[in-house]
Amino acid sequence: MKNISIDIRHALGRVTEADIKAMLPEADKCLDTVESGTGAGNDFLGWVKLPSETTDALVDDICATAQQLRSECEVVVAIGIGGSYLGAKAVIEALSDSFAAYRTDKGTQILFAGQNIGEDYLNELMNLLETKKFGIIVISKSGTTTEPAIAFRLLKEMLERKEGKEVAARRIVAITDEHRGALRKLATEEGYKTFVIADNVGGRFSVLTPVGLLPIAVAGYDIKALLEGAREMEAATRATEYAENPALLYAATRNALYRSGKKIEIMVNYNPKLHYFGEWWKQLYGESEGKDGKGIFPASVDNSTDLHSMGQWIQDGERTIFETVLSVETPVHTTVIPTDADNLDGLNYIAGKRVDQVNKMAELGTRIAHVDGGVPNMRISIPALTEQYLGQLIYFFEKACGISGYMLGVNPFNQPGVEDYKRNMFALLEKPGYEEATAAIRSRID
Ligand code: PA5
Repeated sequence: MKNISIDIRHALGRVTEADIKAMLPEADKCLDTVESGTGAGNDFLGWVKLPSETTDALVDDICATAQQLRSECEVVVAIGIGGSYLGAKAVIEALSDSFAAYRTDKGTQILFAGQNIGEDYLNELMNLLETKKFGIIVISKSGTTTEPAIAFRLLKEMLERKEGKEVAARRIVAITDEHRGALRKLATEEGYKTFVIADNVGGRFSVLTPVGLLPIAVAGYDIKALLEGAREMEAATRATEYAENPALLYAATRNALYRSGKKIEIMVNYNPKLHYFGEWWKQLYGESEGKDGKGIFPASVDNSTDLHSMGQWIQDGERTIFETVLSVETPVHTTVIPTDADNLDGLNYIAGKRVDQVNKMAELGTRIAHVDGGVPNMRISIPALTEQYLGQLIYFFEKACGISGYMLGVNPFNQPGVEDYKRNMFALLEKPGYEEATAAIRSRID
């Protein structure tokens, strides 16, 4: 059994191996702060031992609930935003057939809502759901977030109208705080099946709780293997040496690069199935690290697509960036480029090669060009897109995020900056309780 692995050789130059080695005591201290729960935000460290402490009973309950939804629904809409949505979306996209929506044998489809307030998005979704047997997984840790609350109000009303309250209640599952919040109250009153998001697990670290596991199971994927991979990485990332602990090495290297002036990290993939993994990673690192005037700005690109858009900037723009490449060793399928007798397109020189061989040369050629252009490059190798390796990858990034945040000197587990837009939005919408803020913000409107 292989593992995901990290290669930092091509990140060296501006920072040396000696620089990174010299950071080991500091990185170790931050690892210990995460493991021992002695740092800022230590009441949000429930994710650290989550893989090893998740009980079989919980996994069985999630699988049974998923099976029940699958047996009754053509479509299940997972409603949530931020950490209550991106992890499930990332894993499902990574494992799914790229054209699943167009297959006739597609089984139960997972769609997402509550991650935006787009009127057209919601209207078009409801239009589609009119013709489908559907269910809802509504996810909100706080139980009060506006975006998912709006989507849930609309879809709940629709489901009750179409199927009656009893069937609707059977097809709605709520994932929220054990005691607090409007969603908990509503779920109790309506008699929905519920799962709990523990107090000590923050949204962006919650993909390995029912928040991510239930939608992933409904989509038909093996959550036991996902947790198994995470457990493997939980064990590996306790080690105090770079050679054994990829999370420690990644956290130290990105901090060394940041301190040398590399302020932006671009997560790069060469497999479109990983687009949402980049989105999940950006949320995890952006919300965890961007505070107190500090933080590596997390960006992402999908190559080779984006080599034809962002490639110019990355090769030639301001030299404040470094790249971390997610490289999948073996694709699921095999496709060989055929020979063409006329060779009018001039492609016979690659005839007989797998498409992935060409993709790998695009990756290698890009790495050499970007490193030559002053863009340090880390590479994370993923043997294949399976549940087990995705579980490893998720836990690897979570653990590295905790270590890295402490190395930056911030509390990686809060998100005070997210509240500002909410306060203004509520004031503008004249939410009860915001009267003073409403009066104050009026003078700011042009
Ligand atoms: O990481 C976080 O804490 C946030 O991104 C939340 O997940 C997001 O704001 C959604 O919050 P909630 O689950 O309370 O609706």
